Amino acid sequence: MNLRMDYNNVLSSRIGKEGITQADFDALKPAAEKASQTMADNRPAMKWRELPYNQAEIVAGIKAYAAEMKDGIDAFVVLGIGGSALGPMAVQQALNHPFYNELPREKRTANGAADSFPKLYVVDNVDPERLVYLFQTIDPTRCLFNVISKSGSTSETMSQFMIIKALLEERLGKEAARKRIVCTTDKEKGNLIKIAKEEDYKYFIVPDGVGGRFSQLCPVGLLPAAFCGIDIGGLLEGAAQMDERCKSPCIHENPAYMFAALHVMALNKGKNVTVVMPYADSLKFISDWFAQLWGESLGKHFDLDGNVVNVGQTPVKALGVTDQHSQVQLYAEGPYDKMIVLLGVDEYRETITIPKLYEDMPSLGFLGGVTHNDLIKNEQLATEYALTKSGRMNMTLTLPRVTPQTLGQLLYFFEVATAYAGYLLNIDPFDQPGVEEGKNATYALFGRPGYEAKKAEMDAAPPKDDKYVM
Ligand code: PA5
Repeated sequence: MNLRMDYNNVLSSRIGKEGITQADFDALKPAAEKASQTMADNRPAMKWRELPYNQAEIVAGIKAYAAEMKDGIDAFVVLGIGGSALGPMAVQQALNHPFYNELPREKRTANGAADSFPKLYVVDNVDPERLVYLFQTIDPTRCLFNVISKSGSTSETMSQFMIIKALLEERLGKEAARKRIVCTTDKEKGNLIKIAKEEDYKYFIVPDGVGGRFSQLCPVGLLPAAFCGIDIGGLLEGAAQMDERCKSPCIHENPAYMFAALHVMALNKGKNVTVVMPYADSLKFISDWFAQLWGESLGKHFDLDGNVVNVGQTPVKALGVTDQHSQVQLYAEGPYDKMIVLLGVDEYRETITIPKLYEDMPSLGFLGGVTHNDLIKNEQLATEYALTKSGRMNMTLTLPRVTPQTLGQLLYFFEVATAYAGYLLNIDPFDQPGVEEGKNATYALFGRPGYEAKKAEMDAAPPKDDKYVM
C-alpha cells in the first residue's frame, strides 16, 4: 500500500501556458543538482530522517508507560504549540474515530481490542477561555498532562504547565501531582528538562537534530498517539517505506524531490500559494500540520549565501468537498497564483449508501443507490477536471487507505519534500528566525531579564498615529 503522486495536471501539456514545461525542468537543473547533493551531504545532520530506524527502545518505553498509565486517567492532555501540537492533532484525527472523545470509554479501543484508551485534548493556544473551559469539561485530577517543548522555554506551553502544576499540587498534593505530568523536551537545553529532573517528572527526549515541525515521528507525536491506541510502530514502518522511495538522487524516482521541484518551478512561475485540500475528514488536520511545515520552513528573508531573498509559498488549508462550496470558485477563476494539491484516498473506512428515493425527480433520482464514497470521489474528479480545464496547476496525492503505515509515508514524504524545497530555494529549511523574533519581543514586553535591548528597540519604533485609528 503506497502513497501515489499524479502530477499530470501541473504540466503545460495538460493545462497550457500556465503549466510547467521541459524548459522549466532544464532551467531548474543546476539548482536541482546542488539541492540533491546538499540533501545527501546533510543527511547525517537531519536526525529526523533516522527516526524510522533508531527508536526501538524508545517505542518500547513509550508503550510500556502508556500501558502503565492509561487505565488510571480519563484524558491525556497535550500542552504544546506549533510542531509540538499540530502533529499529535493530525495523527489522532487521521487514525482514530472522528468523534473519539465523545465515544464512551469502552468504545475507544484500538482495532476492536479489549483495551480502552483515554480521551485526547491538545491545548495549544493561550486564549484565557481555553483552559477554563477545559477544566469545566474534564476533571484535571483524572488527567495526564504532557508538556511538550523542544526548547523548554516557549511561553505558551510553560505558562500552561505552571497553571496546571499549581492546580494539581493544590488538589492532589505534591507527590500525586508529580505523577500527572510527563515532559517531552531536549536532553539538556531549556528549563523544562531542568525542572523535570529536579522535580522528578517522567520525561521523554526530543532528539538532537529534530526540530519542532519535524518531530511528529519522535516522542513528541508518538507518546500522545500511543495513549490513544495508535500503532506507533506502523507509523514508523510507513516512514521507513517512504524513506526508501526518497533516497534516489534521480528526480523521476524520488516523489518528494519531484513534489518539491514542481512547487519551486510553480513558485518561479508566480504560484505563490499552495493549497492542500484533503478529500477525507480524517486528513483534515494534515493540512494544518503541512501549513506549518511548509510555511515556517520555506518563508525566509535570507538565502544560504546571505542574500536577501524573501522567498516562500503561502500554504492554504482547504477541505474537499466542503470548500468546493467556498474556496474553489477562487481557485478556478481567480488569479493564476496557486498550486492545488488534492489529497485523496482510494478506500474509505466506511460505506454509506443513499436510498432510492424521489426517482421521478431527475435532480435527486440520480443519487439513489449511489454511495457517499462514490459521491466524494466523483466530486474530487470533477474538481480536478474543472481546475485543469481552467488551466490551474493541480496535482493529486492518494493514500490507498488511511492506516498508520500510509500516514507514516505521507508525513515523512512531506518532511523530505520540504527539505528538498528549502535547498532548491537555497535557504535553510530548519531555522525559524521570524518565529524567534516574535518570541523575543514577547519576553521583552514582559520585561524578562536579558531582553532589555529588544525592549529598547521596540520602544524606539515610531509610535502609531491616532488619526489612523477609527
Ligand atoms: O517548528 C518549530 O520549531 C516551532 O513551530 C516550534 O514547534 C514551536 O515554536 C514550539 O516550540 P517548542 O517545542 O520549543 O516549545
